[in-house]
Amino acid sequence: MSEHLPPFLNFTKKNTHLEASDHSFFRKILLDWYEGHHRPLPWKGIKEPYLIWLSEIILQQTRVEQGWAYFEKFRTRFPNVHDLANASTDEVMKLWEGLGYYSRARNLHHTARQISSEFGGRFPNTYAEILKLKGVGPYTAAAISSFAFDLPVAVVDGNVYRVLARIFGLADPIDTGPGKKKFAALAQKLLDSSRPADYNQAIMDFGATQCTPAAPACPRCPYQSRCLAYNGDLIRNLPVKSKKMVRKTRYFNYFVVEDDRQQMLIEKRIAKDIWRELYQFPMLETDALLSEQDIKPEESPFKKRTTQLKLRKISLSFKQVLTHQVIISQFIEMYVPKIEALKKDNYIVVDRKNLDKFAFPKLIDRYIHPTENLLF
Ligand code: ADE
Repeated sequence: MSEHLPPFLNFTKKNTHLEASDHSFFRKILLDWYEGHHRPLPWKGIKEPYLIWLSEIILQQTRVEQGWAYFEKFRTRFPNVHDLANASTDEVMKLWEGLGYYSRARNLHHTARQISSEFGGRFPNTYAEILKLKGVGPYTAAAISSFAFDLPVAVVDGNVYRVLARIFGLADPIDTGPGKKKFAALAQKLLDSSRPADYNQAIMDFGATQCTPAAPACPRCPYQSRCLAYNGDLIRNLPVKSKKMVRKTRYFNYFVVEDDRQQMLIEKRIAKDIWRELYQFPMLETDALLSEQDIKPEESPFKKRTTQLKLRKISLSFKQVLTHQVIISQFIEMYVPKIEALKKDNYIVVDRKNLDKFAFPKLIDRYIHPTENLLF
């Protein structure tokens, strides 16, 4: 038990007998609940490992409501792993646009190519082999192993941490090595190994719809009388994290230059940073957003001393909150008679009406389509 926990949570040790003895109640209640409550989701009941993998990668860090449409889009465009492997990176990124965490899309594509060319299209069928795939961590490997191959491996994701922490009154921090180990061991003991697919799907659905983070449905919870958090009034305090997350703020100034023929410049982000493989307008990162006085052609991304470049307008600022960063941006609209004057190797000249063919981060998309995005 770590010393930074408040004293009222210091009851974990004396309840450890629950972990040793009371497994069957947990399983039975969960599977009974699942009978009456399971959500009709498009990937349920599927046994095809490729589609299960695809759905699980899409659902990492994504709510089911958002992931559903993306799953349908990917499945329709790429019915099998070879179709996905043969697609261009740009097409995969464009289809993924708006879903965030873009390394998932890059890894998805990488792994599809590996399965297609190295494994002849055959998806690996053991937990250890599945775990070796790029973009697949212990949670996703357990989900694929159980859903596709009925292997008895318990999933442990945010839902599972929450459900177990609350019902078993576990105050071990879920973001530390020992805490993770303890939850993983308990989850594995609780698993119904005769029905691993149903069990894993049930605990995820239970966490997502019943034992939710902020407003769990405790009054109609089948574990109510057994739940240590409910009975100790600790629902809001569990699960516990040891670290408070700090987000770094970054300032991106985008230069939106257009010429007389509505030709513009964009570039692909290639550095090892957020939004790699997505497109952007030429950009200058600074310690604060540039003011009008700061904007000089020679200090712009074009680095040209030119009188041809004229400032038209600076947009309002646009903000996007990511897991570890906050991006504050503005769009500096400029005019140049002929866009070619600014052309560099990595720039692509594009007609304004063709911008939609490229995948942009959400924040740029909101700038390009202000009316479509009014509600966000
Ligand atoms: N989140 C991740 N995987 C999921 C699944 N298979 N069903 C529902 N939510 C999920």
